[in-house]
Amino acid sequence: MVKSKIKRIGILTGGGDCPGLNAVIRGVTKPALDHGFTVLGIQDGFEGLVEGRAVELSNRDVSGILGKGGTILGSSNKGDPFHWPEEKNGKIKIVNRTNNVLKNYQAWDLDALIAIGGDGTMHIAHALGQMGLNIVGVPKTIDNDLEATDQTFGHDSAVFVVTEALDRLHTTASSHHRVMVCEVMGRYAGWIALNGGLAGGADIILIPEIPFEWDVVYDRVLRRNMMGKRFSIVCVAEGAKPKDGGLIMKAKDIKRTDPIQLGGIGEFVSKKITSNTGLESRFTVLGHLQRGGSPTPFDRILSTKFGTCAIQLVIKKQFGMMVALKGAEIKSVRIVDAISHQKLVRVKDQAVLAASAVGVSFGTKNL
Ligand code: F6P
Repeated sequence: MVKSKIKRIGILTGGGDCPGLNAVIRGVTKPALDHGFTVLGIQDGFEGLVEGRAVELSNRDVSGILGKGGTILGSSNKGDPFHWPEEKNGKIKIVNRTNNVLKNYQAWDLDALIAIGGDGTMHIAHALGQMGLNIVGVPKTIDNDLEATDQTFGHDSAVFVVTEALDRLHTTASSHHRVMVCEVMGRYAGWIALNGGLAGGADIILIPEIPFEWDVVYDRVLRRNMMGKRFSIVCVAEGAKPKDGGLIMKAKDIKRTDPIQLGGIGEFVSKKITSNTGLESRFTVLGHLQRGGSPTPFDRILSTKFGTCAIQLVIKKQFGMMVALKGAEIKSVRIVDAISHQKLVRVKDQAVLAASAVGVSFGTKNL
């Protein structure tokens, strides 16, 4: 569907919200309007694309939103057109609604669609590209688990929240001689726990990529106690699991692109520590605090660069591509490469080695 001249572009934000989405919308829209394009803001991610909900964005709409959290367009993690949950007589049937997508894309007379999202969004974007839509991707997610980019926007802001939380937990931990366990997000990747734990001075970091041993965790908190450090800070990723157990799930919802809702490992770890060491422990679940609020300066800059480079890809008609951070530069990569597999923490990652070198335990004897 490549016309000779780009005139109208659509933009949507898919999946969970995160700091920096508005900065990308601004980064795309301002230069696009300067080029004389019409920008249609599709509402609530792919839901709006299926249901035909969109509004034209003006300069005024995107002015003053650089530091604003969330997304002015709305988002959803339930609107996958290939996997659309249709409710009838109280029952949910999964159907394909891509015909609606094609109809709306044509009715809106779009020349390109910029999809801002994480790995779920990029999978859908790629599949829509295969159907002939002109797609450009922008990688978002606090989880930082998208391949082909050094970092997604939103991650730095989440790490900032975790760091501040761990700093605060330190004071209560040391005053009350407790083991404070902090559960953070990240789905099946440990980036938030690793980077947040490292920045916040955690004593133990538990991540999905390194299944932990209970005895090693107990030993570490007891040893610290014996050495006169009468408190410990544990930063645990929601997807972390013990060697002898599985993931802890909070709920399952087939309407979501990823039906599994993780959560509960923080409480589990905290209770096990108390019952097996006799040390007092408390847990905190940071949850959506990690996704809300203003983006950090790093995320504002990255999002603005991503947005402005995405519109350049549209102008050059480089479709099926995603903007990506490579070193200090923004490059373009094929969306298909970004979804080839999830970017997980490697045991030999420099952050793991650095944490280990300063005495952080990953809950295992052999790293
Ligand atoms: O992917 C971002 C993320 O915040 C994950 O870290 C977390 O597992 C999930 O989304 C939570 O989703 P929801 O907001 O639907 O509970």
